[in-house]
Amino acid sequence: MSAKEVRTIGFIGAGNMPQSILGGMIKGGYPAKHVLASNPSRPKLDLLEEKYGIYTSQDNHEIARKADVIVLSVKPQLMREVCEDLAAHVPDLDKKLIVSIAAGLRFARYYEFLGDDITLIRCMPNTPSLVGAGVSGLVADGKATTADKDFVTQVFDYVGLTIWLDEEDAIDVLGAVAGSGPAYFFEFMHGLQRAAEELGFDAEQARAMVQQTALGAAKMACESDLSLIELRKQVTSKGGSTAKGIEVYQNAELTDISKRAVEAAVARNQEMAKLF
Ligand SMILES: NC(=O)c1ccc[n+]([C@@H]2O[C@H](COP(=O)([O-])OP(=O)(O)OC[C@H]3O[C@@H](n4cnc5c(N)ncnc54)[C@H](OP(=O)(O)O)[C@@H]3O)[C@@H](O)[C@H]2O)c1
Repeated sequence: MSAKEVRTIGFIGAGNMPQSILGGMIKGGYPAKHVLASNPSRPKLDLLEEKYGIYTSQDNHEIARKADVIVLSVKPQLMREVCEDLAAHVPDLDKKLIVSIAAGLRFARYYEFLGDDITLIRCMPNTPSLVGAGVSGLVADGKATTADKDFVTQVFDYVGLTIWLDEEDAIDVLGAVAGSGPAYFFEFMHGLQRAAEELGFDAEQARAMVQQTALGAAKMACESDLSLIELRKQVTSKGGSTAKGIEVYQNAELTDISKRAVEAAVARNQEMAKLF
């Protein structure tokens, strides 16, 4: 990456996801004195101060006033209350960059809560961001500059891969694939583990075998230029045992099942967006 830009970034809400993001930033060399966080309860803040040397406060207004970039990191159901409170007490919100990592809420809702003049980027990180292997979908409103987008890319690159989306609706699809995806993989891995156990392995060995296989397959997919189908074919000799296993999946229409699962999750994301 080219020279890193430093802006003072303030996280409003210091739960699991912002802790991962700011932890990733600081471990990656971002200066701690430019990272701030607020949270109602003190213990999380004490831990963050101790672990990362950042400045924290129980006062959202203070952190929002000091920040150039405000990351809204509270639960979606609290967003209205938190935003309206910021709008009433923090001057010049329109001169700051606002980033929201909350699921569901549309741009229009933030303009309603914070005013039409704000510059907003929505981000949908996924849970593997907690271990630095996340996928973050990003979508910007028309006011965000290239420099704003570059800065936000830099922030989320610290916890994994960033994918920019042209349309706000695409974030529902990204959520259904990358957001929900870890659960699909865990479900599939659980099935393999159970099969190994039923055929004589103990739980520990079965799990180790499955998780390392998943890691190895993901690593090969990441490192290869071949399509996923080509990679699959490379481990499927004609007439061999893998071919027999694959035949079972194909007869059960696994590819079609994945499509149905993603469509169901997209529909639910769209329904939930209407709740907030
Ligand atoms: N975790 C994920 O995998 C994931 C993935 C994608 C998106 N997200 C989004 O990320 C956001 C945060 O999720 P999370 O997993 O970090 O949640 P979390 O661990 O439950 O944390 C929420 C935090 O918000 C704090 N909070 C409550 N009221 C507040 C207020 N008025 N002002 C400031 N902070 C307040 C809570 O403090 P107390 O504990 O003191 O009440 C808590 O630390 C959510 O909008 C979620 O949709 C999360």
